[in-house]
Amino acid sequence: TQNRQTESADEILEPLRAAGQTESPARGLSFANTPDSDPSLMHNLEWAREIIGRFEHSDLGKQGLADAKVNTEEELEEIMARASAAGREWVARPIEERVEILHNVGLALAKHRGELIEVAGSEAGKTFDQGDVEVSEAVDFSHYYAESALKMVQETEGAKFTPTNLTVVTPPWNFPLAIPAGGVLAALSAGSAVVFKPAAAAARCGAVLAEIMWEAGVPRDLLAFVSLGERALGKQLLTDQRVGRVVLTGGSETADLFRSWRSDLPLLAETSGKNAIVVTPSADLDLAVKDVVYSAFGHAGQKCSAASLVILVGSVGTSARFARQLVDAVNSLQVGYPWDPTSEMGPVIAPPTGKLKEGLTGKLGEGERWIVKPEQLDDSGKLWSPGVRSGVQPGSAYHLTEYFGPILGVMRAETLEQAVEWVNQVDYGLTSGIHSLDAEEINYWIDNVHAGNLYINRGTTGAIVQRQPFGGWKRSAVGNGAKAGGPNYLYAFGNWAPAPTEA
Ligand code: ALA
Repeated sequence: TQNRQTESADEILEPLRAAGQTESPARGLSFANTPDSDPSLMHNLEWAREIIGRFEHSDLGKQGLADAKVNTEEELEEIMARASAAGREWVARPIEERVEILHNVGLALAKHRGELIEVAGSEAGKTFDQGDVEVSEAVDFSHYYAESALKMVQETEGAKFTPTNLTVVTPPWNFPLAIPAGGVLAALSAGSAVVFKPAAAAARCGAVLAEIMWEAGVPRDLLAFVSLGERALGKQLLTDQRVGRVVLTGGSETADLFRSWRSDLPLLAETSGKNAIVVTPSADLDLAVKDVVYSAFGHAGQKCSAASLVILVGSVGTSARFARQLVDAVNSLQVGYPWDPTSEMGPVIAPPTGKLKEGLTGKLGEGERWIVKPEQLDDSGKLWSPGVRSGVQPGSAYHLTEYFGPILGVMRAETLEQAVEWVNQVDYGLTSGIHSLDAEEINYWIDNVHAGNLYINRGTTGAIVQRQPFGGWKRSAVGNGAKAGGPNYLYAFGNWAPAPTEA
């Protein structure tokens, strides 16, 4: 870690202090690897401790959320009419002006890193490290989409790109910062107004995000942050014909519900996943264990990108060393609330019901057994230790179902071909991973596996903006295939009539 961070604390903090930004050290420092001898990292440890200390009783965003409450159809109509008008004004402003505001949002998000981590920890149960990378992703989205907006103007010169007037952004609670920020910023960058309706379980996070964006210069009417009292208002919002794009990240069932309200819904959705990491005998097995455990249990497995299956090929499946390492690594995870700084895996968002309850406490499938048994750790019902079940059979409920929690299933395949077949057998196709040091194996896997994001010798979570545009195949996505954080994403927020070709 000494090599990773060569600046002194003052070098890092000086520009921030100069800008009055004393809360937020530079991006990317991990307090988890802090050697006592490194003053810059020690500062971050202090900073992290201070934030973690506020997790349990934080009420950030409460007032903003109360202010955003919409109770009647008339109130919602007024908000939408104002947003629509603000959208027309926004798109008429010079692109340079818009881009400057979008970059300012990125700077403001970085400045408020501490508050954002705090509200994600206190409201959504995110541990410090998980909240920290989310802020980084939100900052990356701001600058990347700002640049993309400029690029799009150049690319469409002489042609006509008409942004949708109004975009509705309905993000999930599991990435309460990065995903809403990404949806809102993409729409704004494309030239659209936004109605941002947060997930109920992460609504305070949404309020804090909206306030930071307004503070950075995004007009209030252009970004309407709403908390809807009733489902009927959600229907009113989505069926309004001024809405030309709906960005949803959530379960497939929510996408189905939205479409039942409006059959021509212009939906861009990233939905469920049942993702696997394949490990072949050529792999660096130590690295594979580390990546599997992080991908399966980061944020208690509540990521659409999480690996909830590991498929061991050939001799890996009978390797006592691999099995031991996996079990030990999972057992060593420190489970606790985010306000305990030693916690590596936090709570689930609510006491498990439905599929997750079934996955944690229900009957095991044929051939399955717990090699690490999940247990409820306190009366809240939200704190569970991680579970690993081996012997998962192809075609079984565990193989094909998304549980969205801290459970990993182990499958054993005779060949890579068989493993890939099992990966593809699920309805979803969001992320997929392989651990292998054999080029032929990797190429075979790339050519045959059906998923949106493929990761080689890396975990399946934490796509990096621009480098790993994010989006699924099959039942993991609805829309035109545009990937968040990728080069064509902004085009999904409007209609592009190509320049007429010369006769
Ligand atoms: N973009 C998030 C990830 O890659 C979902 O984990």
